[in-house]
Amino acid sequence: MILGCREAVATTGVSKLLMLLIAIQSAALASFGEGPDFDPKYYVDIPLRFNLNETARAFDALPRFQNNTIASNTLEQFVMQYFDTAGSDLIASTPRDYNPSPTNFLPRVQNVTVRKWALQIHELWLELTRKVSPSVAMHPEKHTLVPLNCSVVVPGARFKEVYYWDSYWVIKGLLVSGMTETAQGIVENLMELVERYGFVPNGARVYYENRSQPPLLSQMIRAVYTKTRDLTLLKRSLPILLKEYAFWTSAPHEVRVRDHKGEEHRLSRFWGHWNSPRPESFTIDINVTQGMNKTRAAHLYHDIATAAESGWDFSSRWMEDQQNMETLRTSMIIPVDLNVFLFQMEKNIEYFGKILVNQIVETRFANAAKDRYRAIQRILWSRKNGQWFDAWLSYDECSLSETNKRTVVVYEWVQKRLTYASNFVPLWAGVLPKGDVRKERVVEALRTSGLIQSASVATSLRNTGQQWDFPNAWAPLVDMVIEGLDASGLTRGRSMAREISRDWLRSNFVAYQQVGKMIEKYDATSCGKIGGVGEYNPQTGFGWSNGVVLSLLQKYGWPADEPMFCPEPLS
Ligand SMILES: *[C@@H]1O[C@H](CO)[C@@H](O)[C@H](O)[C@H]1NC(C)=O
Ligand SMILES: *[C@@H]1O[C@H](CO)[C@@H](O)[C@H](O)[C@H]1NC(C)=O
Ligand SMILES: *[C@@H]1O[C@H](CO)[C@@H](O)[C@H](O)[C@H]1NC(C)=O
Ligand SMILES: *[C@@H]1O[C@H](CO)[C@@H](O)[C@H](O)[C@H]1NC(C)=O
Ligand SMILES: *[C@@H]1O[C@H](CO)[C@@H](O)[C@H](O)[C@H]1NC(C)=O
Ligand SMILES: *[C@@H]1O[C@H](CO)[C@@H](O)[C@H](O)[C@H]1NC(C)=O
Ligand SMILES: *[C@@H]1O[C@H](CO)[C@@H](O)[C@H](O)[C@H]1NC(C)=O
Repeated sequence: MILGCREAVATTGVSKLLMLLIAIQSAALASFGEGPDFDPKYYVDIPLRFNLNETARAFDALPRFQNNTIASNTLEQFVMQYFDTAGSDLIASTPRDYNPSPTNFLPRVQNVTVRKWALQIHELWLELTRKVSPSVAMHPEKHTLVPLNCSVVVPGARFKEVYYWDSYWVIKGLLVSGMTETAQGIVENLMELVERYGFVPNGARVYYENRSQPPLLSQMIRAVYTKTRDLTLLKRSLPILLKEYAFWTSAPHEVRVRDHKGEEHRLSRFWGHWNSPRPESFTIDINVTQGMNKTRAAHLYHDIATAAESGWDFSSRWMEDQQNMETLRTSMIIPVDLNVFLFQMEKNIEYFGKILVNQIVETRFANAAKDRYRAIQRILWSRKNGQWFDAWLSYDECSLSETNKRTVVVYEWVQKRLTYASNFVPLWAGVLPKGDVRKERVVEALRTSGLIQSASVATSLRNTGQQWDFPNAWAPLVDMVIEGLDASGLTRGRSMAREISRDWLRSNFVAYQQVGKMIEKYDATSCGKIGGVGEYNPQTGFGWSNGVVLSLLQKYGWPADEPMFCPEPLS
């Protein structure tokens, strides 16, 4: 259970296929060097053309220099001969419900140029929708891709497979595009994954099967249901959601804490079931732990995998020393956003129970949501600061004796009062503080937080070189902040929501005019500028960015005679 405490073995639990691909990834780094074109993930995504044993034998037989590296042209030849290209096991597929000029598309977007842009984004669904090749289900031993029955919509570029939390914003966009059937197919795929694994993996690759991502499946089902009113979907989803709920609300994800009045609460944390380098970033992760002993390295690998489960990989938010990746301790933090996502899941299941006239489920989840609301307010809310903060747990299971491990641990904790966009996600998930005065405080706290920059909402206030930090702005966070401010019901909140939406749309539009693409992240401080830093180059495509633009255009429209451009900077 408490995997993070075990000794690391470089490739724990990794299949023979992954072991071979990782060996090729490491050889490629040695042969080609780490230029901007070297992407370790590429080497775990290439499908085998022949059987595994034969390929492994051929790899072992390649001539090597004395320093054990392989000549770059020899390795290149080998990869070309024995593998197909990454992504070739996903085949282009025009979704049946795609219409190049959908009926009643964005009626409130009246500026002709802006409408044209929206239609170009709509057209990107064609590029991002794929079907898993039948060869994957026939020969799973040759692919790291996980077979799925329905069409998939991928984020784009190096992300050639389905991702869990991305899918929520993809679905939001698809529903604006009138592609309900495709949206429903995505939900179907994710439900099949829960049936297989007991949770939704980070993404549909075998190397993602030991961690999840922010749990938004119930919210996706609700979005599709709201459009279709299809009771069959709700009936099918209920046992699946109960399974996923159990994953997030049992140990080691769930922990117990006591509030200052001595009352005990249960809240959840992220916890990757992995304590080795991530296969898709193996060469990066082993580099980070250089010089550490095995126990220490295993801990760090575990907190790296856990950060990947959080969706915020990587961020100073999970680091003891905000500039030092070695001080990650993601698994010992109770995150605000995860717990409000679970609150939302509880409310959604309650709602589905009500519609399906399943009173047992309805009552159970109404109570669970009440308990979690109370826990969030007692442990994570700060009245003084008008926002919610992550709680840091103050000791590690690994330091407990064997006897203590078997008893239930009630953790000591402390709020870490640092500013992150996640501090305001409760508004989006309906965790509103009671009374307008407190709501005003939250809106005011956000307004003066420093997160709201000229072009968008920054992820944090600190530039650390990590991609989930200042000055990057990410579509899902921007969307949750906008929707949350809107849901506050306050005049000031709603007008801020509108302004942030306008700034975000302008920035996405101007960047699109410049580079002809939608990007995964933008720079909050500069209209039209794309985001940077982190583990890989900025990726294009891009599922959730497209979904958020379409849904904001749907919500707010754009007047006929209003241009969309970056405002002149104030001099
Ligand atoms: C591959 O090799 C292993 C031993 O290394 C053997 O057990 C297995 O049967 C072989 N598989 C095939 C398909 O040849
Ligand atoms: C390994 O040896 C070869 C041939 O001597 C040389 O070209 C290459 O740069 C060496 N590579 C490394 C990583 O030392
Ligand atoms: C696809 O659907 C079939 C029948 O509906 C089911 O038996 C199978 O398990 C599904 N495949 C996957 C990969 O989930
Ligand atoms: C990773 O997940 C797979 C599939 O759920 C499971 O079989 C395996 O035991 C897990 N590995 C670890 C180290 O937990
Ligand atoms: C390994 O770490 C060094 C020092 O931080 C860095 O310069 C280098 O780019 C890293 N290499 C890889 C493959 O991540
Ligand atoms: C490993 O390193 C950590 C800190 O760097 C240290 O506290 C621990 O005692 C070391 N463990 C072993 C087995 O050497
Ligand atoms: C619509 O927006 C475009 C792009 O900013 C702008 O060039 C154009 O002038 C706007 N149309 C009108 C009628 O204002």
